[in-house]
Amino acid sequence: MRVLTGIQSSGKLHLGNYFSAIQKMLSYQSKENLFLFVANLHSLTTFKDKKIQWENTRNAVLDLLALGIDPNKTVFWIQSDVPEVTEITWYLSMAIITSQLSLAHSFKDKTARGITPTAALYNYPILMAADILAFQAEKVPVGKDQKQHLEFARDIAIRFNTTYGEVFTIPEPDIEEGTALVPGIDGAKMSKSYGNTINFFDSEKEIKKAVMSIVSDSAGIDEAKDPDKSVLYAIYSLFLSKDDKLLLADRFRTPGLRYGDVKKELLEKILEHFADFRTKRLSLQNDPDYVREVLASGKAKAKSYIDPTLEKIRENLGELKFF
Ligand code: ADP
Ligand code: TRP
Repeated sequence: MRVLTGIQSSGKLHLGNYFSAIQKMLSYQSKENLFLFVANLHSLTTFKDKKIQWENTRNAVLDLLALGIDPNKTVFWIQSDVPEVTEITWYLSMAIITSQLSLAHSFKDKTARGITPTAALYNYPILMAADILAFQAEKVPVGKDQKQHLEFARDIAIRFNTTYGEVFTIPEPDIEEGTALVPGIDGAKMSKSYGNTINFFDSEKEIKKAVMSIVSDSAGIDEAKDPDKSVLYAIYSLFLSKDDKLLLADRFRTPGLRYGDVKKELLEKILEHFADFRTKRLSLQNDPDYVREVLASGKAKAKSYIDPTLEKIRENLGELKFF
């Protein structure tokens, strides 16, 4: 099955991203035909600064490769390297009406927060539909916030196929409804917008600072503690097997446990779990030639998949196929 998703990099990856979205991608990579790209054209609507734009794209590429995206298994590219998608965006814009676009949550949310309502922000869902439809994706894993955009992509595909003749596969959404939310160090949902994250590619010192700041209750050393109410327990559990989780829960319930000691253990666990990924990231960072090669090959592969669809669209639109 052809599975496709785009990552709009907007900051450092945290444990919440890793234990949901990234793990899912890695499992798709080993089972299905995965298409993955860094959605830097979409990020243009958020980041105006040239340097930040470049750094975010570069970081996303390095992060994903370091975490195990394997360019021999997955078609991996940067969105702007395949400008055919923007041509397809134009064709698809004929298959959606403006009143539908004005209902997009992302557009409404962003403009409500004072962001200028540019046409790019308005057309954002059409570019996303083009990303998906251009590759005839069958399944699209995304977070809950992208659900409506995916419905737009399906509507656009159906309307285009009906108006101009069959071209596109109708993609199925794969929304992460069930994934457990990872709490942040303050107990709220871990999110870069809340400043409560543990970022595993940060320096050891920064990771330590975050782990040591995880909230805990005021139970004294000699009191029993409730693991089900503990943020520290919830985060630590991410790294444990079922049996080890039970053992840790027992330790919480037995008087004598010091939160400080558990935090130190958790820090060790995090550093151990991400040690190889951190080393890999450093070596990729020091080998830009290799990364450039990977991206050039991803771009060529992506183009080879998009070309037949683009031909077919032009053919169905008639006058684009005269000579
Ligand atoms: P953030 O909230 O930090 O801005 P994003 O919105 O960029 O994160 O999310 C990227 C992906 O990571 C999405 O698939 C989202 O569902 C997942 N994700 C983000 N935060 C968490 C969390 N705390 N727990 C589980 N999954 C998360
Ligand atoms: N809009 C998506 C997000 O912000 C990223 C994205 C762009 C995407 N194009 C896509 C996701 C195509 C899935 C498929 O998360």
